[in-house]
Amino acid sequence: MDKTVLVTGGAGYIGSHTAVALLERGHRVVIADNLANSSAEAVVTVRRLTGREVAFHQIDLTDEDALDEVFAEHPIESVIHFAGLKAVGESVTAPLAYYRANLISTLNLLNRMQHRDVRKLVFSSSATVYGDPEQLPITESARTGATNPYGRTKLMIEEICRDLAASDPRWRISLLRYFNPVGAHPSGEMGEDPLGVPNNLVPYVMQVAVGRRDRMRVFGADWDTPDGSGVRDYIHVLDLAEGHLAALEHLESGCEVFNLGTGRGASVFEVIKTTENVSGRSIPFEVVGRRDGDIATSLADPSKANEALEWRADRNLEVMLRDAWNWQSRHPNGYADKVGDDVDVPTPTPPD
Ligand code: NAD
Ligand code: WQD
Repeated sequence: MDKTVLVTGGAGYIGSHTAVALLERGHRVVIADNLANSSAEAVVTVRRLTGREVAFHQIDLTDEDALDEVFAEHPIESVIHFAGLKAVGESVTAPLAYYRANLISTLNLLNRMQHRDVRKLVFSSSATVYGDPEQLPITESARTGATNPYGRTKLMIEEICRDLAASDPRWRISLLRYFNPVGAHPSGEMGEDPLGVPNNLVPYVMQVAVGRRDRMRVFGADWDTPDGSGVRDYIHVLDLAEGHLAALEHLESGCEVFNLGTGRGASVFEVIKTTENVSGRSIPFEVVGRRDGDIATSLADPSKANEALEWRADRNLEVMLRDAWNWQSRHPNGYADKVGDDVDVPTPTPPD
């Protein structure tokens, strides 16, 4: 493999791990990111971990001219589109910002791709499009129905992609519905670095373990689940990154949707207990009321991706949390702790 892939949002959590996987597979990578929710240090880390050059353009995808310059400068063959805003609660209070960031960016990107004759796309969708599922595990044919503006942007973008693929058979599009991505690169040099108070369970529990926060709040222990706490299908970010490679390599004419999950569920209490085991720290917690919009259980049926993409998420919860802890304990304040780091890393090779 030796193809140039544009990774939008490549400085972010999932994008940076996928960039490393692409480079390790021999692809060339161009990152476009406005750093609204990430650090340029993540791009430096991608270069350090792989010893490869990576072009980085700090642009906002709502600026179509800036985006076109990226296509003009590089022989882009395909696009993995991660860029977007993702905080569910914020999307409820600032819906226009979400529709603008997610929809306008995507329309600009698709327009530039069409103009530049680039018609291979892998898009970051989300299990959030399933809302409160009627059946478990969730297959791709399950009823969709998002419950917040963030989720609706994902559903709308999925529809836009389907319409586009129907208009011209040269389009090859994969819509990847991720379940709950967690974990970090095993080197401990790259991981999730949320701004402010984390919304999600694993970043929060890690910040408690490292001493940045006092205690966990468990949002309800009265759910209809084996131990009463919420159950989710956590997936290691490296398995997810490998899922993108598989999707890219298996792109076919049209628009296909795939669940990326493990098919195994873990409860909030299991996450707390396993974090205690891997970190050797105790995690104080209190049970509080349910969080608005939460559901009891989310669990993927990943068999379509297992078969069609020849891909499987194998890393278990312990590995996910061990790697997350490795990152968090080495960098309690995330990328802010890495600025100016003098780590022993391979020398980058110039681009071919
Ligand atoms: P992230 O915030 O770490 O990464 C997104 C990146 O996009 C950030 O680096 C941000 O700066 C950039 N960005 C945002 N708006 C932009 C714009 N207008 N122009 C250019 N860059 C912009 O998030 P992530 O967790 O890596 O998520 C990546 C994608 O996967 C997102 O589309 C998200 O909705 C989707 N997703 C994430 C999860 C999850 O739990 N992390 C689950 C399902 C789907
Ligand atoms: C997991 C479990 C909580 C925090 C969200 C988005 C979804 C997707 C992934 C992008 C639940 C419980 C959490 C805490 C807790 N993102 N919890 N205390 O809600 O499944 O999904 O992220 O597409 O759209 O909604 O993930 O990590 O927030 O919660 O008890 O402090 O942990 O109630 O059961 P969720 P999460």
